[in-house]
Amino acid sequence: MKKVDIKTIYTSPKEFDGQEITVAGWVRSARGNGSFGFLDLHDGTCLNTMQIVFTNKLKNYSIIEKINTGSSIMCKGKIVLTPENKQPFEMQAEEVTVLCATDSDYPLQKKRHTVEFLREIAYLRPRTNLFNAVFRVRSELAFLLHKFFNEKGFVYVQTPIITSSDCEGGSELFRVTTQDIYDKEGKFDPADELFGKKTYLTPTGQLEGEACAFAFGKIYTFGPTFRAENSNTTRHLNEFWHIEPEVAFMNLDELMDLEEEMMKYIIKGIMEKCPDEMAFFSKFVDTSLLDRLHNVINNDFAHITYTEAIEILEKNNKNFVYPVSWGCDIQTEHERYLAEQVYKKPLFVTDYPKEIKAFYMKINEDGKTVRGCDLLFPGIGEVTGGSERETDYNKLLKIMKEKNLKEEDYWWYMNLRKFGSVEHSGFGLGFERILMYITGISNIRDVILFPRTPNNCEF
Ligand code: 4AD
Ligand code: MG
Repeated sequence: MKKVDIKTIYTSPKEFDGQEITVAGWVRSARGNGSFGFLDLHDGTCLNTMQIVFTNKLKNYSIIEKINTGSSIMCKGKIVLTPENKQPFEMQAEEVTVLCATDSDYPLQKKRHTVEFLREIAYLRPRTNLFNAVFRVRSELAFLLHKFFNEKGFVYVQTPIITSSDCEGGSELFRVTTQDIYDKEGKFDPADELFGKKTYLTPTGQLEGEACAFAFGKIYTFGPTFRAENSNTTRHLNEFWHIEPEVAFMNLDELMDLEEEMMKYIIKGIMEKCPDEMAFFSKFVDTSLLDRLHNVINNDFAHITYTEAIEILEKNNKNFVYPVSWGCDIQTEHERYLAEQVYKKPLFVTDYPKEIKAFYMKINEDGKTVRGCDLLFPGIGEVTGGSERETDYNKLLKIMKEKNLKEEDYWWYMNLRKFGSVEHSGFGLGFERILMYITGISNIRDVILFPRTPNNCEF
């Protein structure tokens, strides 16, 4: 008999009234009194579990009564509506087949576990309610992002993971090589390398994205990117998922409008599509979550320049670990102060000094600042980084020299400035950062299945 998803029964219980069906999944709990008992079954299709009533007419009654949490079973029986109970229906079991019984060393027992403990058993944590909800929202969020860009006519391009250029300048890169580097002390020789040159795991798909923007007008990438930095924070991963739209004939102001529209679209979409998961987060993770998200949807994002931001921050310098002055990088504590204390909503910071931003950002007429924008969210800090791109070949060459970048590594990117170049802009959204904001989860390790962070690559 074909198995029915528990979610399907919850969607229209009346249709199943009196029906004999089969369900299958994993036991959350079981109890019995010798003559009858109850099973709580979870099949992963929704947060809800299904109650199964069984009696000692079952030939394996005594086994089922004592079955451990986490065991996989299949149940055949009749659905009965129970409108007076907490659960709107239950199954009266006629047959329960044990597929694989766990024993008492199964790590996920009924009690609530800490997220720290669950990180150590990351291969099992999607089975908990919390992580089940997180990863379902993650799936829906990915879908909503594709939907948003697809509806706007963007082409989804898949850019390479292995690269020979470092687009983000400052970011540290993982080397990709076939050489046994532990065996050999020798010097780097391109002839030894499969690609004939030094190669890395890419920190961004932007450069290739720009090439595609000049072919399709509007593109986006969505894939994993890599940063080799040794930062142990609650917001940094060595492998994270990155959405990078790039649009021809778009300036910085239009780019920020696009970002704001995207954010409102996906947040609204998740609240509509995942009400059970969102209710779960607001009960168990962050009670102010829904207010916070409504606040984002219903208000305009703020806009300030870097220079204005520094003026505001300087007044609070005595409370910062790193006091600021014009020219210095804005750190997380400053980003959060601006977003949480001063503006209390998402805000764009624009026109940063060129020294602290990547080479590709368009230089302003002042010659000192660039048309870049970071979007800061309360509780998180930076969730997107973007800019209008420099389209002037000679200006780009000059800044590359200032930043010690080799022209020969970027020849094709430079050529884009000669072959039908137009004004264009793009941004990068850290998928896990926005997922943290939407779920209220405070550590980035808990919104990605198997996090890659320093000293952590077990699963
Ligand atoms: O600001 P970033 O470094 O910008 C770029 O990579 C540009 N090429 C984007 C573009 O214009 N196409 O990274 C963009 C975003 C950040 O705002 C942040 O949300 C996320 O990527 N991010 C990280 N997320 C998790 N762990 C890390 N180590 C991250 N580094 C950046
Ligand atoms: Mg950035």
